[in-house]
Amino acid sequence: MISGTVLLLGAFVALIYFVFLKKPKWKNAPPGPSGFPVVGNLFQMDKHNHLSFTKWAKEYGPICKIDLASMRMVIVSDYKLVKEIFAEPAFSGRMDFSNIDFIMDGKVHGLANTEGEHWEELRRFTLRQLRDFGFGKNTMEESIMTEVTELIDGLKEHGEKPLEDIKLKFTLAVVNSLWSLCTGIKYKQNDEELIKMTEDVNKAFHEVQEGGSIILFMPWLTKVMPVWSGYEKVKREILKMADSCRKPMLDHKKTYHEDFDRDFTDVFLKEIRKTTDPNSAFMGKLGEDNLVATLGDLFFAGTDTTASTLAWMMLYLSKFPEVQRKFHKEIETTTGNSRMCAISDRPNMPYTEAVIAETLRFSSITPQGLGHKAMKDQEFHGYLIPKDTIITANIFHIHFDPTIWGDPENFRPERFLSPDGKTFKKHEALLPFSIGRRQCLGETLARDSLFLFATNVVQRFKIEFDTKGPDHGFEPVISFILTPMPFNLILKDRLA
Ligand code: HEM
Repeated sequence: MISGTVLLLGAFVALIYFVFLKKPKWKNAPPGPSGFPVVGNLFQMDKHNHLSFTKWAKEYGPICKIDLASMRMVIVSDYKLVKEIFAEPAFSGRMDFSNIDFIMDGKVHGLANTEGEHWEELRRFTLRQLRDFGFGKNTMEESIMTEVTELIDGLKEHGEKPLEDIKLKFTLAVVNSLWSLCTGIKYKQNDEELIKMTEDVNKAFHEVQEGGSIILFMPWLTKVMPVWSGYEKVKREILKMADSCRKPMLDHKKTYHEDFDRDFTDVFLKEIRKTTDPNSAFMGKLGEDNLVATLGDLFFAGTDTTASTLAWMMLYLSKFPEVQRKFHKEIETTTGNSRMCAISDRPNMPYTEAVIAETLRFSSITPQGLGHKAMKDQEFHGYLIPKDTIITANIFHIHFDPTIWGDPENFRPERFLSPDGKTFKKHEALLPFSIGRRQCLGETLARDSLFLFATNVVQRFKIEFDTKGPDHGFEPVISFILTPMPFNLILKDRLA
């Protein structure tokens, strides 16, 4: 049996090789904190990575660089520069997530992890098909509203007892509308299979978070020490989730009929069947793996994000009753409380839009977006950014920059309103969905979901913070995304 010492020695030799021998020196690099040999700045990073990124932005300016073991990273902390750099094809690669890929064969699949031609093919196809199947259309609204109604019924039944996990309730509702669009499968919100699948995703998220920096920034360590680095557990959970995505594909293959496109899975299978180009992302077995991974990406990227944002909003509304009062008043004025809110109400609800925008800013659930990668050596504002450098948008810093927002620490929806309060004002520095060529693919669905869930829940219930339950302020749980720590709400039915 190989001893721990031998393993450690092996890891050390591999590390020296990767850091010192494989990586050429970076001439003309942006400024940044000096780090330690071998590990660079890795252990100078706060467990809330975004707090360190903010500190470094203040010290070294809008373009700075850090070294995370064998990985070099450029942090961009000015929204105009983020817009510029993310519009560049050379900077639209993706940080190497091959060790958390759904297929786990050492390569990358799906659309969030891939880059280059395969990514372009998959992104174009997915956007077009999801639009055809409902993104931004009435059918999508109907599907979300079915879930909103079921959620509200469940909340009514719960009564005025402390409600412990509003985020889970939102997650189950959001998953359902997304999953029926992608796979045609429709669950009840209390269905055990749905709950299990959601729990598996949460576990996968949790394991990645626990393995955190090491898994992402020292990927080679996961090969040398799969158990010690926590990678075995991460892999197990991700593969479980991949099985949940493979099942609908296998079921659809059995019942597939060329003349009927039932959902996204069917049209993807159709594309696989008609593809003959061996270099295509839709070719044969690779096509099927890409379908499994794309379903996984949509599930992974679409559910926890939307549900966490809604959970943060409920927390803010319970803590800022005056905001809730104004929000509710606008809902009442618009609908007369004789019907539920619909997407068509949006242009008449500037305060609501402002509450959503301020929630996206204040929660900043993806504080550093998703790392991009330079696909070739490319100059940017006088610096030569070498191929394979990771580029990170410092979204949290931008969202809390006092030179942009004046009083960023205050939750103040009015910052997104015209002085007379009648018009919603977009702000260029609000980048919750990132920007440019890899901008969030689900933004329309996310925005529709946020609007419909939030307005209709607030129309029905007065939301109060349960002072007898846990109170962590606005402290987030550390994860891939920032989600609220546990809190309890008391929901009082306004229309009972
Ligand atoms: C409040 C909700 C959401 C937030 C804040 C959010 C945020 C983001 C961010 C910051 C990125 C990284 C973009 C980049 O690389 O520059 C991203 C990518 C992505 N999002 Fe979202 N997202 C949300 C909801 C959704 C939903 C509902 C879906 C799908 C149904 C979705 C699907 C995706 C996909 C597939 C990508 C990868 C795009 C690519 O690599 O080309 N997201 N999202």
